[in-house]
Amino acid sequence: MSKYKIFVTRKIHDSGLKMLKDQGYLVKVSPYDRVLSKKELIKNVAGVDAILSLLTDKIDDDILKAAGPNLKIVANYAVGFDNLDIEAAKKRAVVLTNTPDGSTESVADFAVILMLALDRQITEADKFVRAGKYNGWAPFLFAGECLDKKTLGIVGIGRIGSAVAVRAVGFGLKIVYCNMVRDEEFEKKYNAKFLSLADLLKVSDFVSLHVPLMPSTRHMIGSKEFKLMKKNAFLINTARGAVIDEKALVVALKKKQIAGAALDVYEFEPKLVSGLNKFHNVILTPHIASSTIETRKIMSEIAAKNIIAVLSGEVPPNLLK
Ligand code: GLV
Ligand code: GLV
Repeated sequence: MSKYKIFVTRKIHDSGLKMLKDQGYLVKVSPYDRVLSKKELIKNVAGVDAILSLLTDKIDDDILKAAGPNLKIVANYAVGFDNLDIEAAKKRAVVLTNTPDGSTESVADFAVILMLALDRQITEADKFVRAGKYNGWAPFLFAGECLDKKTLGIVGIGRIGSAVAVRAVGFGLKIVYCNMVRDEEFEKKYNAKFLSLADLLKVSDFVSLHVPLMPSTRHMIGSKEFKLMKKNAFLINTARGAVIDEKALVVALKKKQIAGAALDVYEFEPKLVSGLNKFHNVILTPHIASSTIETRKIMSEIAAKNIIAVLSGEVPPNLLK
């Protein structure tokens, strides 16, 4: 039997690569520490049995076709999988997987970090001190609000949204949530209230997004939704940029319909919509919510496990429907 060929689109944590090599697979890792062009992807995937892709790789039918009939799996090194063409993969009988368990804690941590940093203006306060503007203590300098008894609206209570709830309880936040389905166990555990998105937006002081990007969640938060939000509310996005209509966000910020936003992901990533970087009440980070060494290691191992399972004729642990 010829050896299985794996193409890894960018250097990732060694741990998963070693698992693949230990199987005797021929593992080729892109030599460039950057996103490959479509042309480069097409060239490199020809004849492979498995592709280990990153969220920055658009895996569409052209790529699947270029890989050819040996291709059995595309293992995405991400929780999100909006970069994969699910229909095209189904048509070609290629299995798709993601890495849902690896990043739960790191992303939930980061959503809370952004929430706290927004509320207490950490980035602005840091700039203020560095700029030599700190002339001494003052009673209302960078005064934020206490989290205790404020309301956090969690949009989507999958793994990450639930892990945010665990953390929020410690801050004394009241939790409301919206989700595709009501979850009474979640409600009991976190004393949480199930609301429609509109009602959640009306009552929340903080809104944190934890839904995957799908046609039904694209622009889930747009001008209509900003009008429903409280003027003191903060919006936090560690999910996918296009869940928010970012142009509408800029308008809402200009009109002071909300108090601020913290974004780790962008609608036109890595580009920002015009005007977004002008607001002092907006925190912008470069898609790093899951960026901890532990998470990167686990993600590489999960992606490897999915590939090994499929190439061994088994159902992979993280099969996407
Ligand atoms: C990160 O954005 C991921 O989807 O894992
Ligand atoms: C959501 O992103 C999940 O992992 O459930």
